[in-house]
Amino acid sequence: MRLSFLSLLSSALATSAVSLTSLPITFSDISGTLVNGPSTAQLTAQTWGLDGPKVANLNSTSFDWWYYDVVSSALDYSLVLVFWHAAPSGLWANVAGGAQPPTTVWSSLVVTLPDGSTVQSGTVAEELIVLATENGSSGTLSGTGWSWASLPDMSLYEIVIDAPDVGVQGTITLQSTSPAHYPCALASAAKPGDSIAFGEFFGWANAVPDANAVVDLTINGTKVAFSGSGYHDKNWAPVPTQDAIKAWYWGHGRLGRLNVVWFDVVLNDGTEQSSNYVVQDGKVLAASCSGASVRPTVSNATFPPLHGGAPPGGFAINMTVPGGHTLQIDVAHTTVIAGEEGTFYRWIGELSGGYVGGAKWNGTALYEQFAF
Ligand SMILES: *[C@@H]1O[C@H](CO)[C@@H](O)[C@H](O)[C@H]1NC(C)=O
Ligand SMILES: *[C@@H]1O[C@H](CO)[C@@H](O)[C@H](O)[C@H]1NC(C)=O
Ligand SMILES: *[C@@H]1O[C@H](CO)[C@@H](O)[C@H](O)[C@H]1NC(C)=O
Ligand SMILES: *[C@@H]1O[C@H](CO)[C@@H](O)[C@H](O)[C@H]1NC(C)=O
Ligand SMILES: *[C@@H]1O[C@H](CO)[C@@H](O)[C@H](O)[C@H]1NC(C)=O
Ligand SMILES: *[C@@H]1O[C@H](CO)[C@@H](O)[C@H](O)[C@H]1NC(C)=O
Repeated sequence: MRLSFLSLLSSALATSAVSLTSLPITFSDISGTLVNGPSTAQLTAQTWGLDGPKVANLNSTSFDWWYYDVVSSALDYSLVLVFWHAAPSGLWANVAGGAQPPTTVWSSLVVTLPDGSTVQSGTVAEELIVLATENGSSGTLSGTGWSWASLPDMSLYEIVIDAPDVGVQGTITLQSTSPAHYPCALASAAKPGDSIAFGEFFGWANAVPDANAVVDLTINGTKVAFSGSGYHDKNWAPVPTQDAIKAWYWGHGRLGRLNVVWFDVVLNDGTEQSSNYVVQDGKVLAASCSGASVRPTVSNATFPPLHGGAPPGGFAINMTVPGGHTLQIDVAHTTVIAGEEGTFYRWIGELSGGYVGGAKWNGTALYEQFAF
């Protein structure tokens, strides 16, 4: 399926079960300039707007981002694309390779290829326009050719990049396989007012925990096309990353009949909080913030991870599902796909494991470690 931003949007409106007048839509014209003063972050669930903007009046110490990735089924390609609403001072040192984007709305794209090479691109804009329709969102970095669009129920996302100025054109399509969730509950089970943050400040909404993804890009005349497991979420906070959180292990993967997402977070006071999300054969077995634990293994296996520390050689994950069954999963690196010496490492790799005493499976994953 090939859809443009506008055709997706009009099909979204046409197929919506509710009439146009009652369709919950919020339109945000986000300027790329900082506000001097307090920003406002939404850290509790609302009836709608899961994937909409979460920080208003962005200042130099707050952030909001939309994150997308795809790992190929053969573990030979990866893609990570982020639409940022943040200044580097709200994120971490060297976030943009040390560059200071001249505005707070920008994108960054990193693609890794089978020959081991990496392609990087991105853009800056004067404004980011976001239309949040029901729980989905569509956004465009005005005048740049970088945009995303979704259906209101988040079942389909399409990113369209039409940026011949930087040599990148094409689409990334995510057909969701697994329902959206927050740190502690499915979106469909969250009640307005429920916390959607780790600790006090670190917001997380996972619109697409797993997707059948198709990447179809042309980068400076070279076709980059692959398919695999896709993912989309967003994070935000009214304070800089290192004030919101001390460290985290996050990742998503496929393992036999399962799709899993883990997010094991260490807060600044040393408290650990983790999100446990397991879907088996399309049925949600766990969507909670209990029963998941991630630990580094093999080498450099320091817990909690330290800023400046060496990357661990692998990870071990336990995820408990109701009924007392525990999944034990090993994560083995295939390729380091990004990193910022001392702060973060991101990999693609192989999952293996299964239920204790049960069948064993394997599959692909894309995952990271952050330590501030
Ligand atoms: C940004 O907003 C947050 C939340 O209101 C506030 O705590 C922080 O002090 C503000 N930062 C600046 C630099 O004004
Ligand atoms: C495409 O080529 C141009 C000119 O050499 C270069 O500036 C740009 O970075 C390239 N784009 C990518 C995505 O590598
Ligand atoms: C949208 O998300 C809210 C929670 O933020 C949830 O209550 C509602 O059921 C969701 N609606 C749909 C259609 O997923
Ligand atoms: C462990 O840390 C050392 C020192 O930084 C590094 O050379 C090595 O590659 C790390 N081990 C793994 C498996 O990444
Ligand atoms: C998983 O559970 C086993 C058995 O209780 C325990 O030995 C192991 O340390 C746990 N691993 C993690 C990553 O929590
Ligand atoms: C899973 O294991 C099989 C058999 O060892 C192997 O052929 C396959 O490549 C593995 N899959 C992944 C995603 O690593």
